[in-house]
Amino acid sequence: MRLCKTIEEVRLLLKTIRSEGKSIGLVPTMGYLHQGHLSLVRQAKERCDVVVLSIFVNPTQFGPNEDYEAYPRDLDRDATLAADAGVNIIFAPTAQEMYTRFFSSYVNVTGVSESLCGKSRPGHFQGVATVVTKLLNIIQPDAAFFGQKDFQQVLVIKRMVEDLNMNTEIVDVPIIREPDGLALSSRNVYLSPGERKAGLVLFRSLNLAQELVANGEKDINRLRTAVLNNILEEPLANVDYVEILALPNLTKIEHLSGKVLLALAVRFGNTRLIDNAVLEA
Ligand code: PAJ
Repeated sequence: MRLCKTIEEVRLLLKTIRSEGKSIGLVPTMGYLHQGHLSLVRQAKERCDVVVLSIFVNPTQFGPNEDYEAYPRDLDRDATLAADAGVNIIFAPTAQEMYTRFFSSYVNVTGVSESLCGKSRPGHFQGVATVVTKLLNIIQPDAAFFGQKDFQQVLVIKRMVEDLNMNTEIVDVPIIREPDGLALSSRNVYLSPGERKAGLVLFRSLNLAQELVANGEKDINRLRTAVLNNILEEPLANVDYVEILALPNLTKIEHLSGKVLLALAVRFGNTRLIDNAVLEA
């Protein structure tokens, strides 16, 4: 496995690989790897000859009062996990390498980025769309892999790639959970044991919604209220949003028809967790 810290270095390496006719898969991450990230690597390895894993805690997608400084970082640990998973190249640039002194170009995806996390984290998806554009331009992968854990992120990136004619296939991969149902996240390390236990209410609420739908509930307002009340029963939970929106454009609906996204963002102490499920009548 090779570790590249500069854009020039990774471009040079990929030039040789591309000239050998090999396909390239990119797995963008902010590091502190867990099994969710590694399942993206497995998918990438199945589909592509060479897998590039990027590790970059992207400052432009964090709000001024968010956890950019505190975000967990451990490149040595990540490199070991990545090598064991069969990653061929790690691209781990510094913030100065990615955002030079006079940086002033941003990618803005409207519509699908404006609800859910776009509303509660202003500027977040502009930062994500900008850094993913840069990574796609630097690596020029045949395919890039994203987790459904960040369902809205996948929708934003698919929209952007289609709208701006970017030449990369976007592949989305199911959520990986702990045995008790908590969705894996680098931020789970922030949780106290009590908050960790309280966080399980998210998975329970998603299951409750699936059950109600299986029993014939089609009224979106009633579904949403049932999920919200379930979460509010957990004293440590502080709801940011509970929303049910139609796919693929995250539009508002009153009755369940086709596929809809149930998306949750809830704080436990200082830690904001997100989770989701696709519901279908
Ligand atoms: P990060 O939170 O590190 O996640 C990297 C990728 O791993 C994302 O595509 C995310 O959806 C996926 N992922 C995280 N937890 C997962 C889980 N439990 N199951 C399946 N996939 C999971 O998302 C980002 O970084 C950044 O926004 C990034 C796209 C790298 C841009 O900076």
